[in-house]
Amino acid sequence: MSTLRHSEIAGVGHYVPSRVVTNADLTEIMETTDEWIQERTGIRERRWFEEGKDTTANMGANAARKALEMAGLQPDDVQMIVFATLSPDYFFPGSGVLLQRELGIKAPIPAFDVRNQCSGFVYALSMADQFIKTGMYDTVLVVGSEIHSSGLDKTTRGRSVSVIFGDGAGAVVMRPSTREGHGILSTHLHAQGEFAEELIVKEPGSNREGRVEYVMANELEMYPYMNGQNVFKHAVVRFPQVIKEALDQNGMQPTDIDMLIPHQANLRITQYVQQKMGLSDDKIFSNIQRYGNTTAASVPIALSEAVAEGKIKRGDLVCLAAFGSGFTWASALIKW
Ligand code: UT7
Repeated sequence: MSTLRHSEIAGVGHYVPSRVVTNADLTEIMETTDEWIQERTGIRERRWFEEGKDTTANMGANAARKALEMAGLQPDDVQMIVFATLSPDYFFPGSGVLLQRELGIKAPIPAFDVRNQCSGFVYALSMADQFIKTGMYDTVLVVGSEIHSSGLDKTTRGRSVSVIFGDGAGAVVMRPSTREGHGILSTHLHAQGEFAEELIVKEPGSNREGRVEYVMANELEMYPYMNGQNVFKHAVVRFPQVIKEALDQNGMQPTDIDMLIPHQANLRITQYVQQKMGLSDDKIFSNIQRYGNTTAASVPIALSEAVAEGKIKRGDLVCLAAFGSGFTWASALIKW
């Protein structure tokens, strides 16, 4: 029986726009309070992009440059790009090809987008892992980047959604692992399409005649809709489940985890998962307080900060986990 090689994260980086928007700033444009936002979500501030400066693709490229630098690689070393986003620069083509151009990669390497919302980055990482395991590619760039702020209903009508989301980007460079038993141990991907409309941006959808005219007359449907309580209810079940699935597959226990990096959906969800898994405060990472929910970017931004702060060391067992729109959810277990 042939043994497939493992992939590992050789570099990680992130970029967030410099414009900080505090909860107090939001109270100027909608009926909300710092107290409500912090109590329900833990968020204190988030970043919003600057038009003309930040784009989904170039924020991803900024994060990618840092990840490449950490890996000691150049953009031309990249053999494939996987770009996770729900807020692409264009309806088409995807942001992956724009990132390729932004990084100045002239070689016609493959680049594609993953449309899996909050679990998009973990799905993308899993894809990169499969390509490396089979030996098809050695160096894969995986990016998660989002600009939410340009598409939010920033009035009182949209407050239950718009206070949560923020902009940012994170990236990892993946390479074959040279250390026995290290790298990505396993990834676990799930979806349950029956809940597709529970967290959704419906328009501009393609399934009606005259979609442009329809959207112009029904612009409200271009804002995100979320059945918050139902999403919350499913998230607190799926997070522990998919983490446990990863541990079980590798014959491990929650006590083996050195660092859990959950998708930063809501601090209350993270705290629930922490308690359910019996993890101490130093074994779970949260930065939603400063960035809000950045969807496909949240896991790599958190991973990048945890590494930069020295909270993840060689040999540590790191678990990534995410849940979101679709519903989709996923985990990855990594021996760092
Ligand atoms: O990343 C993808 C996954 N997403 C998630 O995991 C999010 C999961 N859901 C949540 O985190 C929570 O459902 C929210 C934080 C989004 C909302 O919290 P909630 O406790 O479910 O609040 P709610 O939507 O039920 O609203 C409660 C009250 C309502 O007022 P009434 O009807 O009780 O008078 C809302 O109108 O809070 C009101 N409200 C607000 N008040 C001040 C909603 N948004 C706001 C706001 N500021 N921003």
